[in-house]
Amino acid sequence: IQKIEAAVETLKQGKLIIVADSLDREAEGDMVGLAEYVTPENVNTMVTKARGLLCVPMSETVANRLKLKPMVTDATDAYGTAFTVSTDVRTTTTGISAFDRSDTIAALAKSDSGFDDFYHPGHIFPLIARENGVLERDGHTEAAVDLAKLAGVQPVAYICEILKKDGTMARRKDLKAYAEGTQTPLITIPELQQYRQIKTIET
Ligand code: 5RP
Ligand code: CA
Ligand code: ZN
Repeated sequence: IQKIEAAVETLKQGKLIIVADSLDREAEGDMVGLAEYVTPENVNTMVTKARGLLCVPMSETVANRLKLKPMVTDATDAYGTAFTVSTDVRTTTTGISAFDRSDTIAALAKSDSGFDDFYHPGHIFPLIARENGVLERDGHTEAAVDLAKLAGVQPVAYICEILKKDGTMARRKDLKAYAEGTQTPLITIPELQQYRQIKTIET
């Protein structure tokens, strides 16, 4: 419980954490930040140190407000990751610089933003989380949105898989070493599921 709450506190300070999924799922670790607090520096950390695909998990309510349609209607990927059409906020130019991506992420988390504020396609990949979060699906998408809800901010986050310098996936021991070396909290999705189960019983 303390581990999850400490991770949420770090997120509320605008910093990044690492979320690992189960070893019998993707066995990957994603850097995660809250979209409301995004900075170009954090985006740059993700694209240079995590090196995966930068995505923006959000609740279905937000995705519906922004009229973000599914990327495909007949998904065939292994985990059913809920990609929507990609996007850039209209104030961006290339869309891909850390500054532009940060602006798009911030705009996706603005409570008064709407469809007309964005271009499609773009360089940011929104993902739609299931309603009941990690209690319904054990993906990074749901973990990130659950963490945003626990932090009490807009249910929008930004995530990026961690790859090693040689291009292979960072596995659990690599994630632990990175987390320790950079003083970044590392939590797992099973831990978050457990936390949510306990909290559901308590409330
Ligand atoms: C998008 C992905 C990542 O695995 C990301 O973590 C979201 O997917 P999921 O919710 O399935 O874990 O595929 O880069
Ligand atoms: Ca994936
Ligand atoms: Zn994932």
